[in-house]
Amino acid sequence: MEKLPQVPQTYDEMFTAGGSEGVFDLPYARSPYYPMFKAVIGALQRGKVSRVLEVGCGTGTFAHMFREKTELAYRGFDFSAVAIEKAGQRFGAPGLFYRGDATLAETYIGQIYDAIVCTEVLEHIENDLLAVSQWAAGTWCVCSVPNYDADTHVRHFRTAEEVAHRYGHLIDIDRIETRRKPFLNDLSVGHWLQAVKWNRYRPDRLLWLLGLSSFERDGGWFIFSGRKRNS
Ligand SMILES: C[S@@+](CC[C@H](N)C(=O)[O-])C[C@H]1O[C@@H](n2cnc3c(N)ncnc32)[C@H](O)[C@@H]1O
Repeated sequence: MEKLPQVPQTYDEMFTAGGSEGVFDLPYARSPYYPMFKAVIGALQRGKVSRVLEVGCGTGTFAHMFREKTELAYRGFDFSAVAIEKAGQRFGAPGLFYRGDATLAETYIGQIYDAIVCTEVLEHIENDLLAVSQWAAGTWCVCSVPNYDADTHVRHFRTAEEVAHRYGHLIDIDRIETRRKPFLNDLSVGHWLQAVKWNRYRPDRLLWLLGLSSFERDGGWFIFSGRKRNS
């Protein structure tokens, strides 16, 4: 698979276009990440946190859900200027988002947080371990990484053991959950009904549409949570 360069411009272009089928502009409940985001909120509640810093917040899909489902404080950053602009518009509070590179110490200076959320970002960063090492010791971290490849992924993971092996020396991992990737990029009922009609003679796809997919074959995410170690 040909890979795209891991620079802000790659994401500026992707977010300007809206992603495949406008996926990055969808309301959170229609985003394919919705099942994964629900698990992230559950993991945050387990950590009993009060102030979240989201690393690589993209167009603010998770931020929007987080505001509607919790009362907790939030800030997010991303190295894509287009993402930050779209997140601010979606949220109606541009001041909650800023531009920053996850691997640089200066990005975190002055931020007060007791939790980090970092979903679908680490696999986009060559030096992901440097990014994690910037997070304050003792912070409750909730991250997701995929088990499938993509043109913007520099790595992906086949097993929970691989995830623990890569991040376990930086984060004292308490739990690793999995969520299966939905068949559709847009989880609206209309899209679902249309897909059922189009795939009515494809039992494998119908099963996937009913949520009966295989994590290993059809893709999904590892959601891991735990406290940042001293490092
Ligand atoms: C697949 S998107 C995920 C966005 C969001 N976290 C979500 O779950 O919807 C990956 C995001 O990581 C951001 N990103 C990649 N490398 C980064 C870096 N070094 N610093 C900050 N953000 C980065 C991209 O701009 C993009 O918004």
